[in-house]
Amino acid sequence: MSDLEIMQSDWLARIDAAADLPALETERVAALGKQGAITQLLKTLGGMTPDERQAQGPRIHALREKVAEALSARRAVLEAAQLESKLATETLDMTLPVSTGPQGSVHPVSQVMDELAEIFADLGFSVANGPEIEDQWYNFTALNMPESHPARAMHDTFYLTAPEGEEAKVLRTHTSPVQVRTMTSQKPPIRIIAPGRTYRSDSDATHTPMFHQVEGLVIDRGIHMGHLKWTLETFLKAFFERDDIVLRLRPSYFPFTEPSAEVDVGYTVQNGRRVLGGSEGWMELLGSGMVHPRVIAACGLDPDEYQGFAFGCGIDRLAMLKYGMDDLRAFFDGDLRWLRHYGFASLAIPTLSGGVGA
Ligand code: PHE
Repeated sequence: MSDLEIMQSDWLARIDAAADLPALETERVAALGKQGAITQLLKTLGGMTPDERQAQGPRIHALREKVAEALSARRAVLEAAQLESKLATETLDMTLPVSTGPQGSVHPVSQVMDELAEIFADLGFSVANGPEIEDQWYNFTALNMPESHPARAMHDTFYLTAPEGEEAKVLRTHTSPVQVRTMTSQKPPIRIIAPGRTYRSDSDATHTPMFHQVEGLVIDRGIHMGHLKWTLETFLKAFFERDDIVLRLRPSYFPFTEPSAEVDVGYTVQNGRRVLGGSEGWMELLGSGMVHPRVIAACGLDPDEYQGFAFGCGIDRLAMLKYGMDDLRAFFDGDLRWLRHYGFASLAIPTLSGGVGA
């Protein structure tokens, strides 16, 4: 084997043995770089006689050519291996459960319901529930709205189709039927709130066909309007986290309360925005009153012995006032961006001390 042949097999073996791209680059520089062995060899051609050059030239060039080919072949192999290992380490196993913690958020309505339960629990109230598909007796009749009563027309009621000979059920138009269900199933003293869905055929920026109300009911001996006002004041101060909440009770009419009062909450204007607290202006917030003796009697209690107060309030409206949303319809659109923006941390527990809205 000639010297050049030995050199060639030597270089090819070294190139083959290069384990990665940096090692291969070292071999390339050693062979073909400016100071490389083969480059040096090519330079010797200049010092040769024309005959020698004619004999050696093609052989040295052929050696250079072979080594260059081997280098690029090895480079291709190493690059492919590098890509392969990158692909292998960067794969995502889509079958593995994601571990980024809870993804959803608590809807403001659920958050406010939790806050209500928390606040009223501190005042000794428990939470009561009733069906959303309700008998007319619970929704109207027992609440002093017999069939011919004009007040039934005050509610744009959804009536369900009834089987032959049966009375149509309704989607409850308010949470007040839970008052009746509670009074007919529990003995006084009664202190409950009843949050839940209610339905009326109505839709604009502040009305949706389904909305949420919370009902409050206290039945005991010697209950009067003072208890009602104190309870509402205490509740609203805790809910809005302000001590300067001022209430105004206006005479009103509900068939199931006598006397009845519409409750306004005072606001002040700061930087062009209405802020609850103070009494520069008034916002209507809820309906209330002393439970009508006829309602107490319809539930089987003696109105001479027991009195009570009740109130009903829109939960969505409470959420809008506290958390600053202005379109009720967005509450029920199911838009994830809205939910991410207005939703609450899913594992947070509402407490009074931590700020119920924190
Ligand atoms: N049920 C009434 C309504 O939806 C609100 C209310 C409840 C008023 C309790 C007085 C007492 O309009």
